Amino acid sequence: MVIDYSKYYWRNSVITLRRPKEDDWECLVHHMFDSQGRFFFNEKIDLPTDLELYKRRTEFLDPEKLNYTCFAIENSEGKHVGIANLFNIDERNGTFGPIGIVINPTDRGKGYAVVAYRMLGKYMFNERRMHKWNNGYIEENKASETLHKKIGFIIEGVQKDMYYHEGRYWNQVICGMTETQFFENEKRRPNLY
Ligand SMILES: CC(C)(COP(=O)(O)OP(=O)(O)OC[C@H]1O[C@@H](n2cnc3c(N)ncnc32)[C@H](O)[C@@H]1OP(=O)(O)O)[C@@H](O)C(=O)NCCC(=O)NCCS
Repeated sequence: MVIDYSKYYWRNSVITLRRPKEDDWECLVHHMFDSQGRFFFNEKIDLPTDLELYKRRTEFLDPEKLNYTCFAIENSEGKHVGIANLFNIDERNGTFGPIGIVINPTDRGKGYAVVAYRMLGKYMFNERRMHKWNNGYIEENKASETLHKKIGFIIEGVQKDMYYHEGRYWNQVICGMTETQFFENEKRRPNLY
């Protein structure tokens, strides 16, 4: 069946956000072998990975089993290039986040993370009536620092010595933005659709 995606909310000229599916492990596995990227994403070095076990992971396929929402990121050629995990939707206070994101090492630097964050921010503020997005990144994570600056996040503080890695402590940068700040920044950026 040929589907007309031209009016579909979750697709633009750069990416599609979709539900995870079974063979998504094939993209995610590359991330599992990028230990520094894994530390930046998951704040630790994992124990050795077993590929066969990893292939059979299914928990990310079942939203009921997760305490977060997992989005698979596909590029315009339909290639799965990464994931974004949305945590902590607080309906009472109108806050959400963090949204953790990882792009397959060979697909980085092509703008996918910026576009995925823009799409998710627009959805959370415009459709879920959220007021503030809270996020953070490890201080040395220059790619993430640039990503957050581009979206328009404002640094609210630095939590010292939050993680232990490579025999030393690493700081966490805390940042956030309201819907007003998000859409002010959006006005300066090209339309995604
Ligand atoms: C952080 C991450 C998600 C960025 O994904 P990406 O798709 O490569 O990011 P984008 O292509 O949208 O780039 C965002 C900006 O960061 C810049 N950037 C990318 N890597 C960079 C680096 N190592 N140092 C400085 N800037 C960098 C890009 O050039 C781009 O800026 P530009 O538009 O001016 O060129 C990706 O590097 C990643 O998966 N890292 C490992 C996991 C991780 O750190 N997740 C974030 C945890 S908070």
